[in-house]
Amino acid sequence: MPTSTKPLWDMPTRIFHWLIVCCLPLAWWSADQERYDVHQWTGYTVLVLVGSRIVWGFIGSRHSRFTDFMVGPARVRAYLRGQGSSSVGHNPLGGWSVLLLLSLLLVQATSGLFNSDDVLFSGPLYYWADSGFRDAMGVVHDVAFNGLLALVCLHVLAVLYHQLKRKEKLLQAMLRGSAIGRVGTEAPAPWWRAVIIALLVGLALWWGLAQAPQPSLSW
Ligand code: HEM
Ligand code: HEM
Repeated sequence: MPTSTKPLWDMPTRIFHWLIVCCLPLAWWSADQERYDVHQWTGYTVLVLVGSRIVWGFIGSRHSRFTDFMVGPARVRAYLRGQGSSSVGHNPLGGWSVLLLLSLLLVQATSGLFNSDDVLFSGPLYYWADSGFRDAMGVVHDVAFNGLLALVCLHVLAVLYHQLKRKEKLLQAMLRGSAIGRVGTEAPAPWWRAVIIALLVGLALWWGLAQAPQPSLSW
């Protein structure tokens, strides 16, 4: 059993991942059932999670940082030609898919803020935007979700390929932090730093949304 003093994925990265995995089906279900009370809070949770993960990508543990797994196109091509990965964490292709997943999640949740079901519920920034922008964000919310679904399917297939065909213990590492053949190289950043980041991101979101104009009540 590998030592867990140097996990590949620290606790905040794992919590982030599995909470996102819970949020996506919940967002889908709640939109389908028109439970916008649940839907909006799921969306805010995604915004705080993704915002915090992005900050963690700069000041988190070694293998959660973007500099650890983001590489240029030449390295991705070399990886596809069979050259190994330079990081023990995400491989060159995986790194780009992480960035794409995070970006799409951000676009999805942000576009929702401008969205409305045209009956009972409007996102908190709906009255801030003009009708052209709202319509565009409505389309973005729709299209981004399809992109997200496609990318998540690819992501799960890629994980299963590495797990089952190449016998790499990806899932164990994403659950427990490390696994045989998937151990970090440095002690993790303190977990409380991630808690502070999440609190600050949540506070910034709350403050930002509180500045948004409310609907004017004209009788
Ligand atoms: C809602 C759908 C999902 C989304 C949006 C998602 C997103 C992500 C993201 C952003 C990462 C990068 C983690 C980081 O560095 O912060 C990741 C990694 C990972 N995900 Fe998912 N994921 C989803 C579903 C799943 C499922 C269902 C599984 C299990 C089969 C899974 C297994 C993994 C594993 C094992 C890794 C680590 C990959 C590696 O070692 O390079 N994910 N996922
Ligand atoms: C990652 C987070 C989110 C996901 C995965 C998500 C997903 C969805 C899906 C699948 C739909 C139904 C398809 C559609 O009509 O476009 C939908 C509709 C909607 N979402 Fe979201 N959403 C998210 C965040 C948000 C947020 C933060 C808000 C606002 C606070 C929001 C507000 C709405 C509204 C108002 C609709 C109804 C649109 C209509 O009836 O045309 N969503 N969302």
